[in-house]
Amino acid sequence: MLKLVAAVDRRGGLGKDNQLLYRFEEDMARFRSLTMGRPVIMGSKTYRSIGRPLPGRENLVLSQSQEAFPGARVFSSKEDVLAYLGDRDGFVIGGEQIFRLFWEDAGEIFLTEVTLEPREADAFFPPVRPEVFEEVECIPGKASPCLFHRYVRRRDKSG
Ligand SMILES: NC(=O)c1ccc[n+]([C@@H]2O[C@H](COP(=O)([O-])OP(=O)(O)OC[C@H]3O[C@@H](n4cnc5c(N)ncnc54)[C@H](OP(=O)(O)O)[C@@H]3O)[C@@H](O)[C@H]2O)c1
Repeated sequence: MLKLVAAVDRRGGLGKDNQLLYRFEEDMARFRSLTMGRPVIMGSKTYRSIGRPLPGRENLVLSQSQEAFPGARVFSSKEDVLAYLGDRDGFVIGGEQIFRLFWEDAGEIFLTEVTLEPREADAFFPPVRPEVFEEVECIPGKASPCLFHRYVRRRDKSG
């Protein structure tokens, strides 16, 4: 199953100028523990923004350029990624283009909502529609102004 993992503000903002809007250690730790040992799937812009492969995880990068992405396996289409993963779970970690690309394939969403005043953003997470995704968890952060949501796709629902 494919799972999406993102941190957004209340307007769905993901980033600006190819950088994250917020960094909270509690959220980073949650991201690490969710994804460790699993394949992570990202767009070329997100790879560049991180600047290195994520350790302990198989890094799969989507790009149609001829650029090198050290430490990552590069794919030029969604279909190639899905064929490569086969039955294995994978975590789609952004950014906006890649969340949109895999939206219909995602069975689960781990969404950190930062409850601070939204900042200016130029990349956004798609709206999570309650008729399509059921919220099964919403845990307030202990050490950060965050809500940790988990959504599961309702059976046979697209969108
Ligand atoms: N808050 C969060 O949780 C979070 C997580 C991740 C990223 N972000 C933020 O999101 C922003 C980046 O998002 P973005 O949407 O601009 O970029 P992105 O999704 O990271 O990467 C876009 C790139 O992916 C490749 N791509 C897209 N569709 C493709 C397809 N169908 N087949 C093959 N390759 C494809 C293209 O690479 P080529 O141009 O190389 O062909 C495209 O330029 C940054 O601000 C980043 O900080 C936030």
